[in-house]
Amino acid sequence: MTFSQRHIAYVINAVILFGVAGIVLTSENSHSSAETKTRVEESKHLYGPGDVKEGYDSPDYTTKTLDLQKRIGKEADLLQFVSNPPLGLPDVPVPEDNPVTKEKVSLGRKLFFDRRLSINDTFSCAICHIPEQGFTNNEIQTAVGVEGRSGKRNAPMIYNVAYLEIIFHDGRESTLEQQVWAPFLARNEMANPSIGYVINKIKAIPEYKGLFEQAFHGRGPTMETVGMALSAYQRTLNSADSPFDRWHFGKQEDAVSEQVKRGYELFNGKATCNACHLIHDDYALFTDNQLHNTGLGYLASMGVTTKTTRVQLAPGVYADLDNEVIKSVSRPKENDVGRYEVTQNPNDRWKFRTPTLRNVALTAPYMHDGSLHTLRQVMEFYNQGGVPNEVLSPLIKPLGLTDQEMDDVVAFMMSLTGSNVGTLVADAFAAPIGDISKDDPNWAHEKNIK
Ligand code: HEC
Ligand code: HEC
Repeated sequence: MTFSQRHIAYVINAVILFGVAGIVLTSENSHSSAETKTRVEESKHLYGPGDVKEGYDSPDYTTKTLDLQKRIGKEADLLQFVSNPPLGLPDVPVPEDNPVTKEKVSLGRKLFFDRRLSINDTFSCAICHIPEQGFTNNEIQTAVGVEGRSGKRNAPMIYNVAYLEIIFHDGRESTLEQQVWAPFLARNEMANPSIGYVINKIKAIPEYKGLFEQAFHGRGPTMETVGMALSAYQRTLNSADSPFDRWHFGKQEDAVSEQVKRGYELFNGKATCNACHLIHDDYALFTDNQLHNTGLGYLASMGVTTKTTRVQLAPGVYADLDNEVIKSVSRPKENDVGRYEVTQNPNDRWKFRTPTLRNVALTAPYMHDGSLHTLRQVMEFYNQGGVPNEVLSPLIKPLGLTDQEMDDVVAFMMSLTGSNVGTLVADAFAAPIGDISKDDPNWAHEKNIK
């Protein structure tokens, strides 16, 4: 690779990594009602990405990076969100053999933020599920794991995962307790070589001494107890009581704007979103727990047809690069056939799970591959009828919505941000970050883990 090729590769990576946030944050604001705008503005400043790239496309751009030290942590009583879920959510399903207790939640939270639980002590769960970025990552389309190894899918948010009936974009996993082992072991995520390696590492870290035994009636760290503790923490991250909930379920007329109310009507009417993003009589999870083909996966699999791609090299500086040049410095994107990869049934090609829409204003970019950067782009995608293909869902068709109507549905989606987001993020800021120290088992790889 020549110097200039390498330079282009870095720049492209940086743009892919950081370009998205700016686009998301600027264009979203122009499509929201005054009230939701204030809420999002607030959460953006208090709990937004540390390095907001708003205005990155302007030559006058200067960084707005927040000083990490200024982020104020405040521990919350997380158990309240399990015993008494916020308005708009049903009872929290908790498996009989893993009741949520204070000890487990606090241990699970510690594990979630522990960077040592990866092969090179750099990656915790929170590196991809970033609390202040909607427990996902607003700055990249698809996840990047240890040593920059990239994955093919967007990291979903962790809010309200307690309610998931099928887990992952292709629904291949069924319980949170089991799910955690996928990122621990995936080569392009935390890249641990084995389950035993993770367990032995935890056993050897002095800070965990006694914590598992306390939380699990004398049982130490095992494949099962690690899964149970992480799940207990994640089951507390329930977020609702949004302006929509206060209006719709709480009957508070002025909780949302007229535009949001129009958006709600369209969502359940002309736009037919509720065919898959369900709203029930006394609660709303905005998902049918099914998998559907909207055509987005088909489009990505079948390749891009343009010859060049516009790339932002620096604030306000663009270049149209030949796709061949980009290809020469990047790895080709892995194909993603969705549910087909689980069932091998050709009818399941490009099917992905319906995600919830709660807190969706905080979780850009969107879809299994993060390819849609704003809620407005999502609306345009649905309005055009997705992307036709031989196995497109019959529920996806051109909608004929006007610009105003698309904005109204966006405003509706912006009203789904839960009132306890700040509390949950502040609690996450208060969590201990597990970082390598001299007491640790593989400090400078001096002591060997067996
Ligand atoms: C390298 C980034 C990365 C790391 C580290 C990571 N995740 Fe994820 N997470 C993802 C991606 C990407 C997906 C979606 C994968 C898929 O659907 O195939 C995901 C999916 C999930 C889901 C399913 C959510 C849903 O809506 O189906 C949960 C729960 C989750 N992760 C929890 C965790 C926990 C717990 C850890 C730490 C043990 C962790 N993640 C570490 C990127 C990451
Ligand atoms: C046929 C069922 C179906 C219908 C109808 C539908 N959706 Fe979806 N929605 C899905 C599926 C499946 C996904 C995930 C697609 C993917 O990951 O590629 C999704 C994803 C989304 C996302 C991205 C969420 C995220 O976290 O990435 C948004 C926003 C969304 N839909 C909004 C809407 C709106 C608004 C409408 C109505 C205009 C609508 N949907 C109609 C099934 C549907």
